[in-house]
Amino acid sequence: MTDQLYYTDYLELDKILDSQHPKSDFKTDEMLFIIIHQAYELWFKMIIHELDTVREIFDTDNVQDNAGEMSIAVHKLKRVVKILEVLNRQVDILETMTPMDFLEFRNLLLPSSGFQSLQFRIIEAKLGLKMDQRYKSNYYKNTRPGGFNLQDFQTINQIESEATLKGLVIKWAERTPFFDESLWKEYQSSFPAENGTQKFWNDYKQIYQNSLSGVEQRQTEELEKVFYKEGLGEFSVDAMRAVLFIMLYRNLPIFQLPFDLLSTLIDVDELLSQWRYKHMLMARRMIGMRVGTGGTSGAGYLEGALRQHYIFKELTEISTFLVERSKLPNLPAAVKEKMSFNA
Ligand code: HEM
Repeated sequence: MTDQLYYTDYLELDKILDSQHPKSDFKTDEMLFIIIHQAYELWFKMIIHELDTVREIFDTDNVQDNAGEMSIAVHKLKRVVKILEVLNRQVDILETMTPMDFLEFRNLLLPSSGFQSLQFRIIEAKLGLKMDQRYKSNYYKNTRPGGFNLQDFQTINQIESEATLKGLVIKWAERTPFFDESLWKEYQSSFPAENGTQKFWNDYKQIYQNSLSGVEQRQTEELEKVFYKEGLGEFSVDAMRAVLFIMLYRNLPIFQLPFDLLSTLIDVDELLSQWRYKHMLMARRMIGMRVGTGGTSGAGYLEGALRQHYIFKELTEISTFLVERSKLPNLPAAVKEKMSFNA
């Protein structure tokens, strides 16, 4: 009987529940402050776990779009979305602490700060945020008090150098075979073809231009830049083309999961931003315009990070280049066949 599994042992609750040691006496709200942070860190751990599974799925030359792998990846990312929703709501619990309550123990925390949350930085890095893209990146690049210790700094750099989810999604998009010349032989062009331009993209430029109002005409230049010449951000021309094509023809059976994937990545970005926003408002409410315990400018830094730390911004920009469904060219049978589950 003695070796039967016991709830407390399985969950190692002796360790977890013996890990709350306020620096102040027990009359303050520090217990709440500690438990909230620990709850966040546990959920961060879960998010990292799921991101690793998704990265592993994409870290191959051939993700089976219509088989189980893509569906597992999307399912895991949707779980991340649900966790982030809970993390956003958790801010409300901490806001039951008043600024005066916080002042009771705030100085005892110096110079530590949520800035130093290694797991939060790992989530950002695994998704695809790079040191140099960060707001005030020099805050990250030194090991001053309030910044990272050397070990954490090295860990973040190491993770940044590994394949990020963003990088892997870009490679997957680049590998999609939608515009293989062999599939477009029977395509009926609606507009005279420009030399060397793929037939669909030749038409799309005209269709897009015709869809713009007078004041929007300059957008055609932007379309050319993004889908014909340079790409956008870290997305190459091929990756941007694939992603736009998925968004345009998302009703094709085989595009439903890829479309779900792209929408879920946008959800993740949006929820992380909502968290940054709620956290910034909370910080402002608690400490006004004081500097943070971690030595940044406080609310100013948090606002900058909110503005700048979008990871999948290229995906949201796609919406600039959509046209009404009724204006879309009919796809040739060969393309449709390739894009069906029976191909
Ligand atoms: C009284 C409540 C809180 C206040 C006043 C506060 C304040 C701040 C401030 C001012 C910063 C900027 C860095 C600095 O100079 O310290 C920061 C960063 C951060 N805090 Fe908090 N925080 C609070 C609660 C939390 C909680 C509950 C979490 C949950 C894990 C958290 C996680 C973070 C993270 C991850 C960062 C880095 C954000 C980024 O770089 O985008 N904070 N916090």
